[in-house]
Amino acid sequence: MIFNQHRKKMLFVFALIAVIAITNQSFKVEQQEEPKKLKNIKVFPSTMTFKEVDHAMDQFKMALGVKCNYCHAPSKDNPKKMDMASDDNPKKDIARDMLRMTMEMNQKYISAIPHESTDTAKVQMITCNTCHRGAPKPFGKAPAMPPPPPPQGK
Ligand code: HEC
Ligand code: HEC
Repeated sequence: MIFNQHRKKMLFVFALIAVIAITNQSFKVEQQEEPKKLKNIKVFPSTMTFKEVDHAMDQFKMALGVKCNYCHAPSKDNPKKMDMASDDNPKKDIARDMLRMTMEMNQKYISAIPHESTDTAKVQMITCNTCHRGAPKPFGKAPAMPPPPPPQGK
């Protein structure tokens, strides 16, 4: 069966939201407040809300096993606080490239696999955690060679 264009498009949309999808279920009803505005978004789709970005951040944090300040710089006015929109912490731009890479892998390779269903529960997308598994640097060494067999005969 030829993988139809529409499904491909759908899967791309899923690829974009895959990072945030999982936590959506745990959305809490919050007090009525002015919705917070995003100031410096370069990679996430412009349609994403503050809340969605915030939930994606929890995913980043969990996947890398770090705190928010691993990628975010302290505020210039109050060094006890963080300035989430600032790009002063170089890890933030690394994370942006990682996000681009992850989305491209999903869009180009995972979505191109002919899947029977577009159900995100069934189509497995690549997330930060696919590689990181709770560490800022994924463990990527090849397994050690098995020891040579004991000498034969005597
Ligand atoms: C692995 C790195 C990383 C970690 C950890 C991280 N962030 Fe981020 N954060 C980013 C990147 C990258 C962006 C910008 C995304 C873009 O440009 O599309 C961002 C953007 C944001 C923004 C939007 C700022 C704006 O207005 O432009 C907020 C808010 C934010 N992060 C909060 C948090 C919080 C809260 C935590 C901890 C729970 C956190 N982040 C942890 C990398 C990280
Ligand atoms: C295909 C595997 C893979 C995926 C998916 C992936 N990463 Fe990475 N990431 C790596 C590898 C490998 C390194 C280490 C590169 C190095 O040693 O310079 C790394 C390094 C990083 C670093 C720098 C760590 C440091 O302290 O130098 C950040 C931040 C990061 N990744 C964030 C992310 C985020 C956020 C996502 C999801 C949007 C993500 N990564 C998805 C493989 C991946």
